[in-house]
Amino acid sequence: MTVTTSPPTERSVVVRPIEEADVPAAARIAYEAFADIAHRHGFPPDFPAYGDALELVAGFTEHPSIWGVVAEAEGRVVGSVFLDERAVVRGLGPITVDPSEQAGGIGRRLMTAALERASRGEGVRLLQDSFNPASLALYTSLGFEVVAPVVLVAGVPSAPRPEGVRPLDEADLAACGHLCRSVHGYARTAELRDALAAPGLTPVVAHRDGRLVAYATTFADFGAAHAVAETEDDLFALIAGAASPVSFLLPLDQHMLVRRCLAAGLRFVKPMTYLVAGAYQRPLGAWIPTVLS
Ligand SMILES: CC(C)(COP(=O)(O)OP(=O)(O)OC[C@H]1O[C@@H](n2cnc3c(N)ncnc32)[C@H](O)[C@@H]1OP(=O)(O)O)[C@@H](O)C(=O)NCCC(=O)NCCS
Repeated sequence: MTVTTSPPTERSVVVRPIEEADVPAAARIAYEAFADIAHRHGFPPDFPAYGDALELVAGFTEHPSIWGVVAEAEGRVVGSVFLDERAVVRGLGPITVDPSEQAGGIGRRLMTAALERASRGEGVRLLQDSFNPASLALYTSLGFEVVAPVVLVAGVPSAPRPEGVRPLDEADLAACGHLCRSVHGYARTAELRDALAAPGLTPVVAHRDGRLVAYATTFADFGAAHAVAETEDDLFALIAGAASPVSFLLPLDQHMLVRRCLAAGLRFVKPMTYLVAGAYQRPLGAWIPTVLS
């Protein structure tokens, strides 16, 4: 099914659902587009190698709860965007356009299609590289609002391993859903189930005073790492108790947590910006977003 066919430039650009055959081309564009903007500003790219982009694009394309489209010009894939529909609040990304085709309206076409789809949910989130004025302008012009500066944090925390942190198991899912609802207003249980099934991720939980007070899908990969906690102390316990090294996105308005991460020897890698559209509840607790939401 073709989503839309009206041309943004003189050329005809079609936005249509991504298919398995599109994966290598969409992954090459994702790899090159992120490498291009990151290298221009002296930051490490999100996908260190083409294989990393291929793994993500292939995984998203086959995932039943992740929606994706490509932009095609004259039979050639020139960009793609994905929408994570695992929760009622959607996560948008990655969106990438072939570097040779950027600044020609294709990104706006992809975003418009993704936002139309996202209107089936209750809200939508995304994260943006703060050093990229084009993506910031595109998102804010389409209605997204900046609600938090974020920093990518990495390293091996040098802090005593706290009591009460252990791997998450199936029986914790209901309590995790309850905690996430109390902090964010909605549950992200499907992502936790995916994390339990993923070979490289180790979801963890923390208990205090006999109850579950924090959980994380992983700390191994900031792309997939989301965490929720009652307090910044609880979230730091989770970070200190995780299998290291860690890599996660830290909203900077959690001032005490930021200072404790730095004191534990963690390093700042790059600045990002968290944007929201639609329903949004300011977090009533401590939190870490994935690279999508
Ligand atoms: C971000 C990206 C997807 C946008 O796609 P694109 O095809 O280049 O974007 P478009 O041309 O459709 O739209 C860009 C808009 O930003 C505007 N813009 C660009 N730089 C701007 C600036 N410095 N100030 C204000 N507006 C700016 C353009 O004028 C355009 O707006 P318009 O549609 O009103 O003319 C693409 O550049 C890309 O792949 N970048 C690298 C990967 C990346 O960062 N992805 C986003 C991850 S969050």
